[in-house]
Amino acid sequence: MSQSDLLRPNLPEQGSIEHISRQEARIPVPEAFAAQANVTPGQYAEWYRESIESPETFWDARAKDFHWFQPYHRVLDWQPPFAQWFVGGQTNLSYNALDRHVDAGRGDKRALVWEGEEGEVREYTYAQLLDEVSLTAAALTRLGVKKGDRVTLYLPMIPEAVMAMLACTRIGAPHTVVFGGFAAGAIADRMVAAGSEFVITADIGQRKGEPLPLKSVVDEAIKLAEEQGQAVRGVLVVRHTGSDVTMQPGRDHWWHEARTDEREDALPLDSEHPLFILYTSGSTGKPKGILHTTAGYMIGAALSTYAALDLKDHDLFWCTADVGWITGHTYSTYGPLLLGQTTFMYEGAHNYPHWGRFWDMIGRHGITILYTAPTAIRSFMRHGDDTPAEYDLSSLRLLGSVGEPINPQAWHWYHRVIGAERCPVVDTWWQTETGSIMLTTLPGAHPAEPGTAGVPMFGIDPVILNREGEEMQADEGGFLTLRQPWPSMLRTVYGDDERYAKTYFGEIDGVYFAGDGARRSEDGYVTVLGRVDDVLNVSGHRLSTAEVESALVAHPQVAEAAVVGKPDEMKGESIFAFVLPQEGQTPDPQELRQYVSDLIGKVARPDHIVVAPALPKTRSGKIMRRFLRQIAAGKSIEGDTSTLDDPSVLERLAATPVE
Ligand code: WTA
Repeated sequence: MSQSDLLRPNLPEQGSIEHISRQEARIPVPEAFAAQANVTPGQYAEWYRESIESPETFWDARAKDFHWFQPYHRVLDWQPPFAQWFVGGQTNLSYNALDRHVDAGRGDKRALVWEGEEGEVREYTYAQLLDEVSLTAAALTRLGVKKGDRVTLYLPMIPEAVMAMLACTRIGAPHTVVFGGFAAGAIADRMVAAGSEFVITADIGQRKGEPLPLKSVVDEAIKLAEEQGQAVRGVLVVRHTGSDVTMQPGRDHWWHEARTDEREDALPLDSEHPLFILYTSGSTGKPKGILHTTAGYMIGAALSTYAALDLKDHDLFWCTADVGWITGHTYSTYGPLLLGQTTFMYEGAHNYPHWGRFWDMIGRHGITILYTAPTAIRSFMRHGDDTPAEYDLSSLRLLGSVGEPINPQAWHWYHRVIGAERCPVVDTWWQTETGSIMLTTLPGAHPAEPGTAGVPMFGIDPVILNREGEEMQADEGGFLTLRQPWPSMLRTVYGDDERYAKTYFGEIDGVYFAGDGARRSEDGYVTVLGRVDDVLNVSGHRLSTAEVESALVAHPQVAEAAVVGKPDEMKGESIFAFVLPQEGQTPDPQELRQYVSDLIGKVARPDHIVVAPALPKTRSGKIMRRFLRQIAAGKSIEGDTSTLDDPSVLERLAATPVE
């Protein structure tokens, strides 16, 4: 993001701000919940104070729960903006998530319960999951994957995705998971950027009963990556549906054949050994490879799952996020397993084959904690109260929300209809970059305020600043920044320390700032107001406007494109594209949608397209997106239009049909 973006006075226009601007009455913690909560109000206060006043003492105490092959000699080395945690220690996340529990005699406990879209169920105990992961790690080693090699994962939500992630972390090969909704071009870009020579995929996935041809998309991605000079040495293919796929001899191996009876032990890894890279959208067209490292991420994932999601021994925890996103990393996979608890995973669509699918699974499996996204909650809400009422939801004891601001209406529906007003609702704010939850109400410690995320997690020191870096008054909107380093923070943008420093610590001097606006109440509750940069949040999926724009301008009939978010009741934001055709051309909006979908993936498909006669530009040629956002939202134009080269463009644009 450039300085001029920061200066954009557009905070009040972003996303769902209007929906959440009024202060809602707080909902007290239910007594029955408080009585059994992992963290009480007193403990929160004591831990929080210690975590801010003496972070090293606090985190040292938390780290004691884990297995260290070699103890660290220093908790934190902070050379802003570069942090190292648990310096000199050696550990292994896979070991701590699996072996540690089996060694402690908990091998028979269920680690993973999975349900496929057609209803098949698989369960793995900790002993079984450890076995699967050790076999997979050995297979990867035989394929030539070594410590430090980046492995690309393009997998559906199947147990093998969890096994593959843990197998990579077992041998110190950072994984880079690419969401199944991304197309070959996006996979190739990530493989090239990460220098990844190995891929793990499946033959075919399934969504809403339709097959997803994963292996052939990977074949195409490899071709594209190879054209950019990235050699690919091995592909491991899970036979999921048993469909015919082309296997390239020497390069492609079936998962079930590559795994023999050899098992691989967990490798002792430095605390700061790269754990995974996850590509996410920023303000430019090029996705950023967010690098997380071993020990700090591990401890942040575990502590937040324990404190904010209250996981315990009798729980069956379901985080509905796909492993292609950070939430699927930290809370579908690593957090619950690090705590030795049971995680539930579902392969398919939320409304397949009917709108009761989630509630049916909760009832049948006895799921106790549900962690999902506002976009899903809003779509269930639209289908009414009757469907959930048909199912037994009495096993639920806690509900969570993540990924985008939750509007109070959806919050109340979730609380009343799904949680029967018995379950606390936690609204958790965090980012790919932060690795774990940063702001929330702890379910047994803090009353919840619908539409407001809440208070900081341990070690998190949020401060709302203006563009000069001065602290805002209570209840005033500003930039949401974090002042202290924390263990699960990103360490860098993979291969680009300079971009890391500039993007995250360079906009407002010396503090972490990653694109959100917020305000804080007198008593410390933070309300997140949405992104203030050019990042869109579409159904909880993060996308950059620049990425969609560069796909559009790659089309031969498009000269220029400007993409903005349009507030959307269901999706949070929808993608609105203004497209300026090449001289004499009239591009077909439907074709443009398909084109973007083929280049980046279905997630980036523009919802609305205006084939524009011109774009509003300043005399120096900068597109004024502020006005485009107003037009997209169907609002009248507000603000100073005198800097525009030709202000009449706005009227012409507003009169152009939206397709
Ligand atoms: C948004 C997802 C409001 C925010 C974990 C952030 C939220 C971006 C919330 C990160 C929330 C996430 N309330 N906004 N509870 N949770 N966001 O990297 O704009 O996919 O910057 O991480 O999602 O998206 P990401």
